[in-house]
Amino acid sequence: MATNKKDIEFYIDAIRSGADGFQLTEKQPLSYFIRTFGCQQNDNDSEIAAGLLEFIGLKAAPCIEDADIVIFNTCSVRENADRRFYGNLGNLKTWRSEEKHRRIGVMGCMPGLDTHNTMLKESFPFIDFLLNAGDMGNLPRALYESGSQKKHSIVDLTDQAKETGNPSLPVKRESKHRALISIMSGCNNFCSYCIVPYARGRETSRDPLLILAEARAAVDNGAKEIMLLGQNVNSYGNDKRRQGESDFPSFAWLMEEIAKFPDLSILRYMTSHPKDLSDELIEVIGKYETIESHVHLPLQSGSNRLLKQMNRRYTSEHYLELVDKLRSARPGISISTDIIVGFPGETEEDFEDTLRIMETVKFDRAFTFIYSPRSGTPAAGWEQSASDAEIQERFERLLDLQNKHSLESNERCVGENIYVLVSGLSKNDDKIFSGRSKDDRLVNFSLPDMTDSAGQDLTSRGEPLSSTISDGSEVFVRITKAKTHSLEGVFTGLA
Ligand code: 5AD
Ligand code: SF4
Repeated sequence: MATNKKDIEFYIDAIRSGADGFQLTEKQPLSYFIRTFGCQQNDNDSEIAAGLLEFIGLKAAPCIEDADIVIFNTCSVRENADRRFYGNLGNLKTWRSEEKHRRIGVMGCMPGLDTHNTMLKESFPFIDFLLNAGDMGNLPRALYESGSQKKHSIVDLTDQAKETGNPSLPVKRESKHRALISIMSGCNNFCSYCIVPYARGRETSRDPLLILAEARAAVDNGAKEIMLLGQNVNSYGNDKRRQGESDFPSFAWLMEEIAKFPDLSILRYMTSHPKDLSDELIEVIGKYETIESHVHLPLQSGSNRLLKQMNRRYTSEHYLELVDKLRSARPGISISTDIIVGFPGETEEDFEDTLRIMETVKFDRAFTFIYSPRSGTPAAGWEQSASDAEIQERFERLLDLQNKHSLESNERCVGENIYVLVSGLSKNDDKIFSGRSKDDRLVNFSLPDMTDSAGQDLTSRGEPLSSTISDGSEVFVRITKAKTHSLEGVFTGLA
């Protein structure tokens, strides 16, 4: 084990040259596979891990079985992601033992949490390395140290300071049209049910000039959409301003600078915490067409009593004011939300408060969750007053109401000819394309019957339509049908 702290270049050079005992196998290049759970922040971290691995000289493998190095990027925010991950990991014990050079790494939100760290080490001793969430900069070191050991032991770097912070690391983007860019890491809010502040640490804002440079480079490389990511993007810069950098820019400034890029089609951002959504940002959202006509604004509960218990620091009245402000600044803006059912102590009255606010706002989309206790959070020890059956029944009522609102919202689009940024062919049908509208609706569309004598689809330019449209195409689609979670339509032209 290297005991002296060395920098990232040292480990990259050592791995590249096979020096210092880092001899995984004769086979070159080695390949990697990353399995990602959870949120877009994790998606972006995996893109950076892949970028780094390819920078070192590894190649992407099509599946776990074909890879030499497998990395799990984990999520601990709710129980089901936990379970799926442990199932996946358990299946790899034999795979790991079949070839000596193989490696398994675990990063993301689990390894840094005490309970998971212990469980990983005790129940899965065949793992090679553990890294903290967002600590991709220590990945070369983890690889190096696990490759240079004489006798297997888990290289646990979760006690190390994060090696990434502000610098830009190489990134291998999953999508051609969309560039995910983290503007900050961590969370300071300590909502009483949430594990994120423990797993990802305190809020740290990245350098605005680096963010702008990354966004610029992504657009120059063909990205049509930028998505700015943070657990609470609205508090961007608060950490730096508290530390005395009084002129550190706000999130609204950052949005405005990127929204002004002439060749960018859509600027998305998430997640907005209602307590920090500023008038300045609402004004910017209203001012720039490039900014998506959508906001993700987690409500969590409509009961002021529960919002207090959850430590959300806003009231349902304040939330409704924000909705009004957003709708008058940007008419037609779609609003999505997160709602938790069955938070400890939730009464039928509290639950009805949530239904009432849903009736008032009529969310266009909602992610609904049954509360699951997360060990180490304050709410984990709190008594539940409703039975599992009651909570399940509330969850179904909530889902029914939201499905009704989602469908009604989608029905308003039928007959319209809307802009869609294409992500590619649909997963289930190779004659259907998928994409998203500016207000973040999923749109599946087909091509009209425009065939020439040879049976080829044609655009007005005389090119086959099916080969003209791909990830990153900008098109117009006439909406013919509304479903609860998507729209269907027919291509009417290139945008
Ligand atoms: N139980 C259920 N849902 C949770 N979320 C976060 N923590 C929990 C938990 N312990 C939900 C919140 C958050 C979303 C990302 O996940 O609604 O906004
Ligand atoms: Fe979790 Fe609350 Fe932070 Fe969101 S704002 S990540 S729910 S602690």
